[in-house]
Amino acid sequence: MLVVKNLSKQYGEFLALEHVNIEFDHGVYGLLAPNGAGKTTLIKMLVSLISPTKGEILYNGANIMDLDEEYRDILGYLPQQFGYYKNYSPRQFLLYLATLKGIEEKLALTKIEDLLQKVALSDVANKKMRKFSGGMIQRVGIAQALLNDPKVLILDEPTAGLDPKERARFRHLLTELARERLVIISTHIVSDIESIANQVIMIKNKQLLYKDNVKNICATLDGFVFETTISFEQLETFRKQYVLLSEKLDQKEMIVRFVHKGETEVDWIPVVSHLEDVFLYEYRDDLQMNG
Ligand SMILES: Nc1ncnc2c1ncn2[C@@H]1O[C@H](COP(=O)(O)OP(=O)(O)OP(=O)(O)O)[C@@H](O)[C@H]1O
Ligand SMILES: [Mg+2]
Repeated sequence: MLVVKNLSKQYGEFLALEHVNIEFDHGVYGLLAPNGAGKTTLIKMLVSLISPTKGEILYNGANIMDLDEEYRDILGYLPQQFGYYKNYSPRQFLLYLATLKGIEEKLALTKIEDLLQKVALSDVANKKMRKFSGGMIQRVGIAQALLNDPKVLILDEPTAGLDPKERARFRHLLTELARERLVIISTHIVSDIESIANQVIMIKNKQLLYKDNVKNICATLDGFVFETTISFEQLETFRKQYVLLSEKLDQKEMIVRFVHKGETEVDWIPVVSHLEDVFLYEYRDDLQMNG
């Protein structure tokens, strides 16, 4: 359906992505990587806002740049920085965007009611957005991306600013939406995609690291994740020796979770690896740099 072929993107001298190949079919694809890894860069190319320095993106075999309008008709997009008009109500704003998209008014009105309900904004449909919470604005953003009933839905950090309840609702909505379309969402929050993404895409060092289901990605650390209890004083040495994933204070001792691929010790308890472990392990250098 959507094929990314040998994609590279350079901003002047700076290389943001290099030789990326990905095939998207249908279902939910989670683009997971730390800040600055190139998620938005990839997404902006997928929605044809910026053009690749090298390579191409094909939709059903045709270059999306050539498809132009035709591609935009089947595309729904929520940018990471979503612009809206504070003095508009969600209903006004969606109607305005529907007009821009050339959707006929009568059809737009019914569509908008349906969408407002879907994102649970019916109650505030006529309230000015100026007083909305981040989560409410984000839901307006999701609704606008769905206006043209897109075959391909691309959301850049859609869960930013959502509270736990809104996150749960969002996951629900996404599962429903993904039944008949391709959905690509980016995030740096593991738990947001762990349960909903059929496929997880991870980018590291400007290149594709993994594109696989959660189970297979977690399997890359099978047998290498352990937990053990150490004293507070041992922590520094431990941290230097192994890749520490988490530490928890337990009375006067520490329970540590870590990765080690060499010789093991008897008091280490092997544990099942989670996506979070892979994320922390693979991006250990990037995450340290960012504090
Ligand atoms: N227009 C631009 N000009 C120059 N460099 C850019 C530009 N846009 C992005 N970059 C750089 O490219 C790299 C990737 O940025 P990008 O925004 O794609 O990352 P991201 O994964 O979306 O990060 P975040 O999680 O912060 O949104 C970063 O180092 C960024 O500084
Ligand atoms: Mg981004």
